[in-house]
Amino acid sequence: MQRITSEHVNHYLEHGYAIVPDFLNESELAEAREEIRTTLPGWVEFCDDPTAPKPTNSQHNFLPGQGATRFPYTGNMLNHISMHPDLVEFARARAGGNEVFCEQANLNVKCMDHPRDQDQAMHCDFGNHSLAYPPDLPEYWQTAYIVYFTDVDEDHAPTAVCSWQHYPESLRWPAMYKREDRPALYDNEVKATVPAGGLLMYSMRTFHRGTPFLADVGRIVEFITYAPAAWKWLGITGWSVEAIRPAFRGWIESATPEERELLGFPPPGHSYWTDETREGVSARYPGMDMSPYLD
Ligand SMILES: [Fe+2]
Repeated sequence: MQRITSEHVNHYLEHGYAIVPDFLNESELAEAREEIRTTLPGWVEFCDDPTAPKPTNSQHNFLPGQGATRFPYTGNMLNHISMHPDLVEFARARAGGNEVFCEQANLNVKCMDHPRDQDQAMHCDFGNHSLAYPPDLPEYWQTAYIVYFTDVDEDHAPTAVCSWQHYPESLRWPAMYKREDRPALYDNEVKATVPAGGLLMYSMRTFHRGTPFLADVGRIVEFITYAPAAWKWLGITGWSVEAIRPAFRGWIESATPEERELLGFPPPGHSYWTDETREGVSARYPGMDMSPYLD
């Protein structure tokens, strides 16, 4: 991994989260923001300069994680970032070196007075990322990422995280605590102020919360989560619901077999591949190079 250093890894292992302030390079950030300008008109402009018109009437403003704001995106850079080799490698390492799959990749925008402008309670995310419970074991380890496309300071509803050091017990239940029920989680929270291009990494065993906007500003991020591929009880999403979209065809035709596998697509060499399935998949995705699936 080039951009996630051993210091970031050590911080994550000690505290349950880590911040990489300069995860995206300049051209990746610029390209991704161009793609977001098309997908979510007005949002980049407003988040950069809150005197610009506040986006209020786009149907996508209040529906993140659906259609155009969910992977695969119209833009190639957002797709690349969602499957960034460093994100995959870090998640795989946390999962004990096992294969992982991408269980979530969606843009998330919000601004002051937006429905998601909330003073959330401290929680762990497994409520909607697992049917079961996240043990402290690599083989079940899910890694959650937030990639930032606009600057987030104290005013911009930063995600607050609480270090593992403040809840040394193993059990993550309740998965949510109100302030009055466990004030120490709140007293020891760290607000993740992250510049555009930065990355926050955390886990299903890390208490965190969304904080409210303190000014009339906005933020644009992407939620990306990886889980071990072996277990069907993990994951917020199934990707077949997106496969019917034209953008999906474009992405899957140009993706590598390894990238396809990150969404659960049958890998080369799998017994799924027969003359019949090769013919059918090739008919569905005419631009796909079928040669990796021949033997
Ligand atoms: Fe959360």
